[in-house]
Amino acid sequence: MCHRAAPVRLLYIAPEVAPFAKTGGLADVLGALPRQMHRLGHDVRVFLPAYAQIDRRKYRLRPVPGLGPVRIQLGSRRFTVGIASALQPGTDLEVFFVYSPELFSRASIYTADADEHLRFLVLSYAALEACRQLRFSPDVVHCHDWQTALVPLALKASYARDPVLSRARSLLTIHNLQYQGVIPAHLLPETGLGRVPHLFHQDYLKQGHLSFLLHGVLYADGITTVSPSYSREIQSPEHGAGLDPFLRTRSSTIVGILNGVDYDEWSPEHDPFIPHAYGHTNLAGKERNKAVLLEKLGLPYQRGTPVLGSVSRMVGQKGLDLLASVLGRLLRRHAFQFVALGSGEHHLEEMYSALQRTFPRQVCFYRGYSNELAHLIEAGADMFVMPSRYEPCGLNQLYSLRYGTVPIVHKTGGLADTVQLFDPKTGRGTGFPFEQHDAQGLTWGIETALALYRDAATWRKIMLNGMAQNFSWAVQAEKYERLYDRLLRM
Ligand code: ADP
Ligand code: GLC
Repeated sequence: MCHRAAPVRLLYIAPEVAPFAKTGGLADVLGALPRQMHRLGHDVRVFLPAYAQIDRRKYRLRPVPGLGPVRIQLGSRRFTVGIASALQPGTDLEVFFVYSPELFSRASIYTADADEHLRFLVLSYAALEACRQLRFSPDVVHCHDWQTALVPLALKASYARDPVLSRARSLLTIHNLQYQGVIPAHLLPETGLGRVPHLFHQDYLKQGHLSFLLHGVLYADGITTVSPSYSREIQSPEHGAGLDPFLRTRSSTIVGILNGVDYDEWSPEHDPFIPHAYGHTNLAGKERNKAVLLEKLGLPYQRGTPVLGSVSRMVGQKGLDLLASVLGRLLRRHAFQFVALGSGEHHLEEMYSALQRTFPRQVCFYRGYSNELAHLIEAGADMFVMPSRYEPCGLNQLYSLRYGTVPIVHKTGGLADTVQLFDPKTGRGTGFPFEQHDAQGLTWGIETALALYRDAATWRKIMLNGMAQNFSWAVQAEKYERLYDRLLRM
């Protein structure tokens, strides 16, 4: 199907949507893919929770005419939620917010609270019930991650005869297989599927567990992951996080579609967060952004000294412990600076605070979350490091390519699919993927980049190769269009 084909009705349900609520790349994807589908003429609805963190004034959330309170019964728990809507900024795409102060007014978007599963079940059912009230019959319900992974089963079990929802096909996108949403088996009635306990995986239940993601894998009409490599990796015991046997049985339904980049938001030619615009025909602004970045972070600027950057959630997946373990030796040996933005696990944050104390003129660690600083690091750094243990897709290496910030990445998942090793002989390649996830591999990546940086002409070539790559959503969204079309023909 191409955009000349008949429009389809698409329902997206997700725990994060940029710019309203974001902790990572999932939000970027949900901020861009539905918008692109809307642009292509499809009829799109997007649902997310009305977290207390969302700026309701700024985004002008308002009640939706004709959409009354939605009542949801989950086991013995009863919820009554409101629904508001707002326009996706810069578009006329309507995004819906599920209100439940009891569930969504918490200190963070995700919690470790005992009712975490209820929060996202309420989101899921509220979206389906709102469709019924609005008489919006989705052709495809596109779910994301464990939080919405029981929707395919709910559609098959509870809505099979529903006039509005019975024809909907379900698509589950796995952004990260490690987070599976596993609850104790005795909470099964709280899924709202207590009438059909036989449809759950019985062996797991006997072992006392109920996994949301597993049932998404078993019941979704289609499954995608966010890069071709990751779609293969998760079918192996090494990366399958216990679900690989089930993924293998559904192998023919699994498709890897690389995430796109929203180049309206991430382009150095027109990035409102960076003081000096630049592009492939005029690279001068990049060096000026570097001076601004360093000044902002309190580090001395010296022309010719490379800056290595990192922007990341600080969790085990990202390999930041490995990076911290090699940086000390590298910073003593080579003249370069390192700037990092992120927050997360305390012991990882501590490693970077310690590095900053040891190398006060070379290292700055900004602990926290700042979209503005993330943009400035992409623009001001010379290299960007992502030593992830696994990476379903990764977006920062794609932003880095566009900003001429040469990526040094572990060759895994989406990183392997998007960064090609630079070969000085042919002049081809965009960065430095290293094979082995160990000190030697990562050190090789960083030292190779540092050595080539000294050769200005070669470095410029690597930058330009990266800047010429195109990972736009316009291209990637067409792959989803074709997939939606295939699901409708099933
Ligand atoms: P993941 O979703 O696993 O965190 P991705 O690379 O797909 O990894 O996406 C990360 C997204 O979150 C990027 O848009 C990145 O800029 C953003 N991000 C991560 N940490 C921070 C932070 N501390 N401040 C600002 N943006 C951040
Ligand atoms: C997950 C993955 C990341 C991916 C993002 C968006 O957070 O960790 O690799 O880019 O989802 O799909």
